[in-house]
Parts: sequence; structure tokens; C-alpha cells
Amino acid sequence: MQVLEKMSSAEAIQLEDKFGAHNYHPLPVVLSKGEGVYVWDVEGKKYYDFLSAYSAVNQGHCHPRIIGAMMEQAQTLTLTSRAFYNDKLGVYEEFVTNYFGFDKVLPMNTGAEAVETALKLCRKWAYEKKGIHENEAQIIVCENNFHGRTTTIISFSNDENARKNFGPYTAGFIKIAYDDLDALEKAISSSPNIAGFLVEPIQGEAGVYVPSEGYLAKAKVLCEKYNVLFIADEVQTGIARTGKLLAVHHENVQPDILILGKALSGGVYPVSAVLANDSIMNVIKPGQHGSTFGGNPIAAAVAIAALEVVTDEKLAENAEKLGRLFRSEIGKYIETSSIATLVRGKGLLNAIVINDTEESDTAWNICMALRDNGLLAKPTHGNIIRFAPPLVMDKEQLLDCVRIITETLKQFEK
Ligand SMILES: Cc1ncc(COP(=O)(O)O)c(C=O)c1O
Repeated sequence: MQVLEKMSSAEAIQLEDKFGAHNYHPLPVVLSKGEGVYVWDVEGKKYYDFLSAYSAVNQGHCHPRIIGAMMEQAQTLTLTSRAFYNDKLGVYEEFVTNYFGFDKVLPMNTGAEAVETALKLCRKWAYEKKGIHENEAQIIVCENNFHGRTTTIISFSNDENARKNFGPYTAGFIKIAYDDLDALEKAISSSPNIAGFLVEPIQGEAGVYVPSEGYLAKAKVLCEKYNVLFIADEVQTGIARTGKLLAVHHENVQPDILILGKALSGGVYPVSAVLANDSIMNVIKPGQHGSTFGGNPIAAAVAIAALEVVTDEKLAENAEKLGRLFRSEIGKYIETSSIATLVRGKGLLNAIVINDTEESDTAWNICMALRDNGLLAKPTHGNIIRFAPPLVMDKEQLLDCVRIITETLKQFEK
């Protein structure tokens, strides 16, 4: 620890470069401290965090209530595995199912694991409840989806970077255009073997694509009509990020299966979850699915605290209010800008589209300049920058960030 504290950014980057697999391309900034909406690099420079660890740190860095819950539990009992009961898991399960309005929860750790769990649950339900013949179930997914990095999940990605040379791929998925109800109805009615429809309520990684109003509600109706499970991946959009507790709540949709991760722990611990009602969840029996760490006592204590913070600090309301302000202020700048063409999003999940090609490095260069000006964000593509600050931000801080962003973009005006 002492060695790390004395380390320069250049040294830390060199170490990762030499000893770590090169599976990421981080912005060159080395962080060593976080508090609320701010992070600091090893040289002591302070930044606004405008990524929130891909929407995991919705409650702000090192929230004292969440850290307090974690420390207390870490000194008492950390892990039992599910070979035994523990005195925290049931309490959390009651809390989280009431919080989101489902009968049952299946606890996991990462987002990708929760997506895998939802897919397995959907298939099992299809065979045991819907009556589809074994191994014939199909799940509909959307083009440009991002659901994680496991072999099955990348099997239905259309990002070549995520897929190439990782085959053979898992079968059983039908890909349709996002935000296209005709495509959904065609696919859903094409075969009696359709088990589920897996969808991100807003496509985050693809560049914060918000579907047309009514898409999710109408998709849910189609799923009901054909007895197909509506599976919402809210790993990135959930837990107040888009201005409601869940992004599907903007259209009053209750999914059949809900997938959560990231901010379920406020970013302090890997906690993910799959929620469903008994008629679906009860198809899973002992020994059929699990995880050594899933539902551990620290995760349970941390998730309760993280969700209490979301309610008590009215983070959904704040995200809704500040999101509107962000888009209207950036929108004003865009009216006369030659470098930014569009701002889109919901709540505090937003993106700015840059006037250049997807393959360009303009968005990256803008993020480097933002870094120099004290704000950290990351491109999702060569011409799209996602902006997702912690939801504990206040109005004054947000306007300061708008100033930094617009002044930085002005440096790139042609
Ligand atoms: C919508 C969505 N689903 C799943 C995942 C995967 O989560 P994890 O990285 O925790 O496996 C992500 C991660 O960005 C995501 O955005």
C-alpha cells in the first residue's frame, strides 16, 4: 500500500501494461481516491467522475452508509457459501423482493452472471411450464446489445471485437433490430419455441440509444400475447440511473424477469440479482444453479444499504431533474456547435454525438481534453461519449460540469 501511495501515474500504468492482460484500453489517468462525485489521481489532481464505473457508483464513491454496512459485516461474517444458511441473506431477499415487487430473487455477483442466470431460468421455464421440447427453446435478443462477456452472451453479440475467435457459439438466439415492434412481432410469432425476449430498456454500451416511447410497453404486451417472458437487463439502466427506480418504470412495465447488477452495491462490491415471481423462479431446484459467493453476507448487507441510500437520498428524482437540466444546457450549446450534433438520454444516462465518423478518434481526444480539464468520461464509439455521473451530484456541480464539457468541446470546433 505504501509503495502504491508513492507511485507516479506513469509507473502505475507501466505495471498494468507489463503484468496485466491487455483486455482494456483505459484512459491514461490513475485514480487512488474517490468521494461522492469526485475522484483523485495519484498526483492529487481532482476530477468529476462522469462515468461512475459504467453506472455502478450511482450512490457516489465510498458512500459512508454503504461502506459502514460493509465494514460491520466484514468484521462479523464474510462467506458461508450456500451450503449453510446465514442470518443476512434471508433479510436481504425479503428486502430486495419487496423493493422491486417480485416474489423471489436469485443472488449472483456480476452482471454477466445474472444475465446467464436469467437465460437459464427462461429456458427451464420454457421446457417445464410452456411445454417447449428440450433443446428447442429460442430467446429473442436485439442487435447492438451488450449483456456481458461470457461465451453464451457474446454468442449473440454483433460486436466483432467481442466475438471473433471466441467460437463455437451458443445456439438458441434470434437477433432482431432494436426498437422495432414489427420485427419483434414477426420473430415472436414465427415459432412456438420462443421462450423469452431479452432487452436493455436503453442500450447503454451501444451509445445510449433510447427506444421510441411506448416500445417497452408494447413489447411487453406482445410477450404476454405469445406467452413469452419479457426479460429486462437493467444492469446499467436500473437503480435510479434514468430518473426512475427502473428504466422500464417510465412505461409502467413490470418485467417477468429482472436483471440487476452494478449499482445494486453502489459499486463497492460485486452484487447482482435476478428477480422473478414464483411461477417462474420455482423451476430452479437445489443443485441446478448457484455460485459460491452469490448471496454472501457482505453482499446482502451492502445491497440493503445501497438500496436504502437510493430511496432516502431520492436519487431517482435527482437523476430525473439533473438529467433534464444537463440535456437542455448541452442542447443550447449544440445549437451553434460544429463539433457536437446531438445529446440524448434519460435521467443521468446521456450521450453526446460528435460530428465525426464512428472509426475516428475524435471522441477519445475530447475525453483526453476533458480529463485535462478535470472531468472523466469515456467514449462508447469513436464519435459517441457517454455521460453518467454519480446520482448524488447537486445542481451547482452539474452546471460546473456542463461548463467544463462545453468549454472543452469548443476547443475542438472546426
Ligand atoms: C446492460 C448490461 N448488462 C450486463 C453487463 C455486464 O455486467 P458485468 O460487467 O458486471 O458482468 C453490463 C456491463 O456493462 C451491461 O451494461
